[in-house]
Amino acid sequence: MGKRRFYILRVITSLLIAAFLCTCSGCSAPAMETDSSNKEKTDKIQIGMCFDSFVIERWQRDRDVFVSTAKELGAEVNVQNANGDPLKQKEQIEYFIKKGMDIIVIISIDPEKIVDSVKKAQDEGIKVIAYDRPITNAGADLYISFDNEMVGEMMGEAFVKSGLKGGKVVMICGPLTDNNVPMVRDGFTRVMEENDNEVLDIYYADGWKAEAAGDYVYSNTELIEEADAIMCGNDDLASRVVYALSEKRLAGKKLVSGQDADLEACQRIVEGTQLMTVYKPIEKLARTAAEAAVAMVSGEELPVDDIDEYDDGKKIVPYLKIETVSVSADNMDEVIIKSGFHLEEDVYLNVPGK
Ligand code: BGC
Repeated sequence: MGKRRFYILRVITSLLIAAFLCTCSGCSAPAMETDSSNKEKTDKIQIGMCFDSFVIERWQRDRDVFVSTAKELGAEVNVQNANGDPLKQKEQIEYFIKKGMDIIVIISIDPEKIVDSVKKAQDEGIKVIAYDRPITNAGADLYISFDNEMVGEMMGEAFVKSGLKGGKVVMICGPLTDNNVPMVRDGFTRVMEENDNEVLDIYYADGWKAEAAGDYVYSNTELIEEADAIMCGNDDLASRVVYALSEKRLAGKKLVSGQDADLEACQRIVEGTQLMTVYKPIEKLARTAAEAAVAMVSGEELPVDDIDEYDDGKKIVPYLKIETVSVSADNMDEVIIKSGFHLEEDVYLNVPGK
């Protein structure tokens, strides 16, 4: 008998034996297999993580650090991406509830759309963490984020430090469905008021879409020309704004802010077309959140001493607040390069002689 025919015969025999065993035991063999792997899985803490999207550079870092820290702590993370669709995010939370996760970590897109699902999860004994963005009126078990008002203040203070007093500003923010947006706005406008700067207009870019920010600049030429500074809600919005400005030969002539310390924003800063960004230590946020998630499921204390409070409209939620750093060309090396957030050769890619 040829080797191949012998092999086929062996496979058929094994299948027949398996089918026979299956009939006798009510098909316990595959079930046992599933059982044991499930058991192995359920022994570990199961974390569901719902992202808004990965379009913006920082979120991949958030995911990678969170997942690797959770793994080190013996937990498993199932990551879902809603691609900016709040209803899809709701479905993903419901899927995690059905799967019986121990805890769900949410970067919310539109709190109104998921409030019921958060309650449902908690009713099933699943804890919920609002990650980076508060989920208003939901009563999450924890909120962990950066100090968003401080982000806005830092943008305003950088403008003032560059001489903006009694000047004019246009604000291009993210969407109001992101609860961080009003906090950043309020921190910023407070500093503007204190320094007699006039806000000519506030625009909210739907879904954080950078193209919308660019379109705003193209279709509001007079306002843009009149403004001394353009506050951009993040570096991605700033990227399109600076591009549109450069087409109007205005790049470098208006003060522009951002946040996230995206690589391209750091490049624009050392090249002189963006004044500043806000560095948010993502590693710290994601690591602390993963440690907190595991601690909460295990019934242990939160991994930090300093716990703030956030009134989400439904209840006072424990708030782990992480500090941010204002970054300009002056402290780029100190903050961004020394910390290893970006490489020197990448940041100074287009700066000859550096
Ligand atoms: C975050 C920013 C981010 C933006 C868009 C905000 O909630 O605070 O860091 O750039 O969402 O994803």
